[in-house]
Amino acid sequence: LIILCLGSLLTTVTWYWLDDVEFSKLPCPKKGPGKLSDICKGCRSRLRRKCNGFDTAIITQENTRIGTKLVYDGDEKKTLKVTREIFHVFAKEHPFETKRLDKCALVGNGGILTDSRCGKSIDSAKFVLRCNLPPLKSDYQEHVGVKTDLVTANPSILLKKYGSLMNRRRPFVESLQSYGNALLVLPAFSYSFNTDVSLRAAYTIEDSGSPAQPVFFNPGYLRNLSIFWRTEGLKPRRLSTGFIMTSLALEICDNVELYGFWPFGNHPYELYPLSNHYYDDMKVSPMHAMPAEFNILLRLHSEGVLKLHLGNC
Ligand code: CDP
Repeated sequence: LIILCLGSLLTTVTWYWLDDVEFSKLPCPKKGPGKLSDICKGCRSRLRRKCNGFDTAIITQENTRIGTKLVYDGDEKKTLKVTREIFHVFAKEHPFETKRLDKCALVGNGGILTDSRCGKSIDSAKFVLRCNLPPLKSDYQEHVGVKTDLVTANPSILLKKYGSLMNRRRPFVESLQSYGNALLVLPAFSYSFNTDVSLRAAYTIEDSGSPAQPVFFNPGYLRNLSIFWRTEGLKPRRLSTGFIMTSLALEICDNVELYGFWPFGNHPYELYPLSNHYYDDMKVSPMHAMPAEFNILLRLHSEGVLKLHLGNC
């Protein structure tokens, strides 16, 4: 009974936010009356101007030369000089289409996707982004789809699931088959302890002939993004992967549709308890502030900047 009451309270509060958004607090420039889409354009272009994820989110041989001193965004006291060997693993040029993509689906890992039947809807997007090498096949496909154009890979997964790639690499290579030739984005330069394992992942992919395309998050971009959202009042210790990818998707896609974003314990409509992820119940890192991020996503949704899917498809 207590769970049901709390769930229903949460739902009411959430829909109150949706219905009665305080536009003055939106992370978009305040403008006079106009079509919502005009206001939203301002928001996207501000992201592009201040963070320029299109050119800088991914390290390339064009934006990061040999000898550059990379400053780790998670620990600014640490730096790394780009050697010739590391430089050769960088992408040759930025990996995004120069023309903005018509429709992108960004898939968070929330338990809200369980039994959602959203697989077809997700797969119908032109570009599908996923977070943290999530499982797709068999039981999950109907609910989360399979198409993947970009997937992030947090080094903590490489550590836990693949023994930091210190021994046999085959299980890692086989697990990548689900993502075809997707871009595999590694935050190799967020913390110094992430670098070696991320480079091992990239070398493993190259050596095994896997079609996946390893690329690295640019720590300068991640720092700018964190500053951007800080000035909008969002101050977590670290932005969540899903929120980083939302910000990037807003720069590279005309229409951004979000699935699997619901950092709460009960289903928004039917109120039954949810696991944190659609595939496990691992708890949220205390570094993140997902409910505060979700509040911003709700505001962006109600402005028409992006579309949040919370119900079943
Ligand atoms: O790497 P991180 O811990 O940020 O993410 P994750 O747990 O692998 O989930 C990927 C993304 O989905 C998160 O970064 C959140 O943006 C979103 N998510 C959510 O909105 N609600 C949940 N219950 C779980 C994840």
